Order: sequence, then C-alpha cells, then structure tokens
Amino acid sequence: MAHIIELENICKDFRVLNRREGLAGSIKDLFSRNYKIVKAVNDVSLTIDQGEIVGYLGPNGAGKSTTIKMMSGVLEPTSGTILVNGKIPYKNRTQNAQNIGVVFGQRTQLWCHHSYAVSV
Ligand SMILES: Nc1ncnc2c1ncn2[C@@H]1O[C@H](COP(=O)(O)OP(=O)(O)OP(=O)(O)O)[C@@H](O)[C@H]1O
Ligand SMILES: [Mg+2]
Repeated sequence: MAHIIELENICKDFRVLNRREGLAGSIKDLFSRNYKIVKAVNDVSLTIDQGEIVGYLGPNGAGKSTTIKMMSGVLEPTSGTILVNGKIPYKNRTQNAQNIGVVFGQRTQLWCHHSYAVSV
C-alpha cells in the first residue's frame, strides 16, 4: 500500500538579508545587499501510513514548522519530493487543503470535518 505521506530528501533554504548595524549600516544596505542562506530543513525523509499517529519533535528552530508548511503546500521545497495522498502539496494546494487541518501558533480550534489535524 502506498504511504499517505512521503518525504524524500527534503531541504528548504531561506535567503535572508544580513543587516548591518546602525544608520550607516542601513544606508550601506540600501546600496549593497548582503544575503546569507539559512538552511531551515536539511535532508528530511519520512513516510507516514494511513491511520498512524505521529509526533514530530525537535528543538526551537529545528525546522518543524517549515516541514509542515511544505507538507501543507504553503512553501515549496528547495529540493526533494513530497507526496501527500499521492499529490504534490504546493501544486495542489486547494485540493490538499480539503483533507488536512493545520493550526499555527496558539490557535486551539480545528474544523471538525478535516481528516488530519496538525498543530505547529
Ligand atoms: N520565512 C523565513 N525566512 C527566513 N528564515 C526562516 C523563515 N522561516 C523559518 N526560518 C528559519 O528556519 C529555521 C527553522 O525554523 P522553523 O520555524 O521551521 O523551526 P521550528 O522547529 O518550527 O521552531 P519552533 O520550535 O521555535 O517553532 C530557523 O532558523 C528559522 O529562523
Ligand atoms: Mg515551529
């Protein structure tokens, strides 16, 4: 049986502006921008089968929310492949959203018709 969720070698990099300090730094930033790459998720592979209840744990900044955002189609992975119910989440966001529930931050309510519920 196919896995309901499949992640293969998933990576997500963010390009973040390296801000210089002070007024002079801000002015310099206007003319030459200096970026750094933040590796939020680095080579994550996992499979989840129908009916499995799974916890995804890690320290602050480990990349948990970023992984869930890619699984729910909010973000596109930098590399690797994700299939949720046989579909690529960021390419099938609307369809995928009809089957999942994701709560970010402190929200405690979920729509009751959702098949899965995730809090990140
Ligand atoms: N939109 C973004 N732009 C730049 N960097 C980001 C962005 N989102 C997350 N990051 C960085 O990516 C890394 C992973 O963040 P993420 O929020 O996925 O971690 P987390 O495991 O959910 O942490 P927490 O337990 O604090 O919720 C962190 O270093 C974070 O600062
Ligand atoms: Mg988080």
